[in-house]
Amino acid sequence: MPRFSVKWVVAVVLIGVVGGAFFFCEYLIYFPTILKCAWPKISHARGGEGTDGHSVDSAVRAMVLSDTHLLGAVGGHWFDKLRREWQMERAFQTALWLLRPEIVFILGDIFDEGKWSSQKHWEDDVRRFHRMFRHSADTELVVLVGNHDIGFHYEMDWFKLQRFEKVFNASSTRIVTKKGVNFLLVNSVALHGDGCPICQSVEKELIKLSRDLNCSLQSGSGVMDGCEGSQLYPPTPPIMLQHYPLYRVSDAGCTGQDAAPPEERHLLFREKYDVLSKEASQRLLQWFKPRLILSGHTHSGCEVLHDNKYPEISVPSFSWRNRNNPSFILATVSPSSYTLSKCFLPEESTVISVYCSAGACLLLLFLAHCMWMKGLLQCLSLCLLGKHKSL
Ligand SMILES: *[C@@H]1O[C@H](CO)[C@@H](O)[C@H](O)[C@H]1NC(C)=O
Ligand SMILES: *[C@@H]1O[C@H](CO)[C@@H](O)[C@H](O)[C@H]1NC(C)=O
Repeated sequence: MPRFSVKWVVAVVLIGVVGGAFFFCEYLIYFPTILKCAWPKISHARGGEGTDGHSVDSAVRAMVLSDTHLLGAVGGHWFDKLRREWQMERAFQTALWLLRPEIVFILGDIFDEGKWSSQKHWEDDVRRFHRMFRHSADTELVVLVGNHDIGFHYEMDWFKLQRFEKVFNASSTRIVTKKGVNFLLVNSVALHGDGCPICQSVEKELIKLSRDLNCSLQSGSGVMDGCEGSQLYPPTPPIMLQHYPLYRVSDAGCTGQDAAPPEERHLLFREKYDVLSKEASQRLLQWFKPRLILSGHTHSGCEVLHDNKYPEISVPSFSWRNRNNPSFILATVSPSSYTLSKCFLPEESTVISVYCSAGACLLLLFLAHCMWMKGLLQCLSLCLLGKHKSL
């Protein structure tokens, strides 16, 4: 009788340890970590104009993440795919549930193999994307294009670009306006400035948007030269979102716990490959005078100030495949002001150590069980016997 009950107790503890570790690591762990994050509050001192409190009410809560790299059929191992996608799905769904953003931006490289995947694989990737990043109607999901979605400049073509734009039913270069805030989305893969057809079309679009925004800013003061037929937006400089960062020499000036590792920080960036070219960056700044730039691509965090007035934030990758401590940005943005904070996801090393501890517990449990049941010697002799048999 006592033997029977001990067996049961051991079985229950065993299942408890294994199941508990699994449930914690795969589901629960996202809650306390994301619960620590909160929407930053707009301080009145910073915005200047919005001191009457109305700016706080009308601020939009935007969540920004980047480089999800959903693995494709060619380069991805099924387990890697399963695990990373589950992690991102849980992290995203938990964040939606706890933080309730009004708008979510993903800054490109949604898919890892959009640049070459066949129609069938593409559809499979898209289906998984929609499942992972499902959201209610209160949240708007806006996706930007990255080089892995349509290929680097030399492999990009109309077919891949339109395939991407069709999935998200939107042009890759446009302005999204929410509560009086202009978010400018830029297809930064097409800014090589070499006159390629896609580049020309994107540039034309950008010039039109720049004119529209200029006219919108003027419309407040009544002077409207050459603004016939332009679309009007709220009169406020845009927040610019793109995949490639604006030109910078390297990540040497970056600090913070998710900056590039010290041995990589001094590697020089290649124009049009790691960052936009100098010319394209200057043109974007001139055309739009953005109050903030958010970009992805480098997979690491960084803050840069261009020309002493245009701040840019590099948003790190959201996938554990690319880093141990992925994160996303929480932005509270009003027409005149904004504040940002960064929300880290659980670290992969934490998850691994929880699993290792659970494994160690099981081992101890097994040993204790052996000793209790048969005595240590007997257990050892059994083990040895087992070994001999297997030899
Ligand atoms: C795509 O977007 C347009 C407007 O931008 C809208 O009229 C149309 O209904 C949308 N199509 C789908 C399938 O959502
Ligand atoms: C909009 O205004 C800026 C200066 O404020 C200017 O540099 C830019 O060229 C203008 N855009 C267009 C399309 O004219």
